[in-house]
Amino acid sequence: MWRASVLTIFPELFPGPLGASLAGRALGQKIWSCEAIDIRDFAADKHRSVDDTPAGGGPGMVMRADVLARAIDAAAPASDLRSRILLTPRGKPLLQSRVRELAAGPGVVLVSGRFEGVDERVVEMRGLEEISIGDYVLSGGEIAALVLIDACVRLLPGVMGKEASHAEESFEAGLLEYPHYTKPQEFEGRPIPEVLNSGHHGKVAAWRREQAEKATRERRPDLWGKRKDDPPKKA
Ligand code: ADE
Repeated sequence: MWRASVLTIFPELFPGPLGASLAGRALGQKIWSCEAIDIRDFAADKHRSVDDTPAGGGPGMVMRADVLARAIDAAAPASDLRSRILLTPRGKPLLQSRVRELAAGPGVVLVSGRFEGVDERVVEMRGLEEISIGDYVLSGGEIAALVLIDACVRLLPGVMGKEASHAEESFEAGLLEYPHYTKPQEFEGRPIPEVLNSGHHGKVAAWRREQAEKATRERRPDLWGKRKDDPPKKA
C-alpha cells in the first residue's frame, strides 16, 4: 500500500476530494492510504501554539521548528523511507517526472506550511524537499498536498484505466494533447473536423500530431523548446 501522511493544522481537509472518484475508489480498495496528522497535537503549551513571530521582525508568523520536528518524527521515524516534502511556493516546481518517481516509491510524508513559512532549521534537519505546484500563492500547503497526492495516486497500479494514460504519455513526451471531439456531428453550426470522420488512421494521426504541436508552440513555448520526442520532419 502506497502511504500518504500529511502534517497540517487542518487535518479535516483530508482526504477531502480524494475520497471521491478514481482516488476514492482506490482508497477504499486499500491501494493507498491517507493519514492526516494535526501538528497542534505536538505543541507544548495549553494554547497548542505551533507558530511564532519571525526572528528579525517583519510581517506574519513562522511555524516553529521544535513543534514541527516532533510531528514529523511521530509520523515518520528515521527508518521510514518515504520522501519528506514541504509544500511551499519557494520550492522547485512539481513536474510529472518527479510525480512518477514518488508514485513508484513507498509513499510520501507531506508538510503543509501555513503562516508566512516554516523555520529553516527543521527543513534542513529533517531533510525536507521543498516543492511548489505553480507560480501563484495559495493560502496554505493543504491544497498543494492534495494536488501532489492526486497526481501520484492516479499512477498507482490498478487506479487508472489504459485510456487515461495516453494524455500523460503525450505530456511526458513534451507536447500538449490534441483537441477532442465526439457526438453530435454538428454543434451550434460547428462540424467535427472532416479528417476525423475519414476513417484514415494515418491522416488522423498526422492531424492530431499537427494540432498537438500547434497548441504546444502557441501556449507553452517553454515546453516546445525542450521536447524529448522530437522526430526529424520530412523535408
Ligand atoms: N503553499 C502556498 N502556495 C503554494 C504553492 N504554489 N505550491 C505549494 N505550496 C504552496
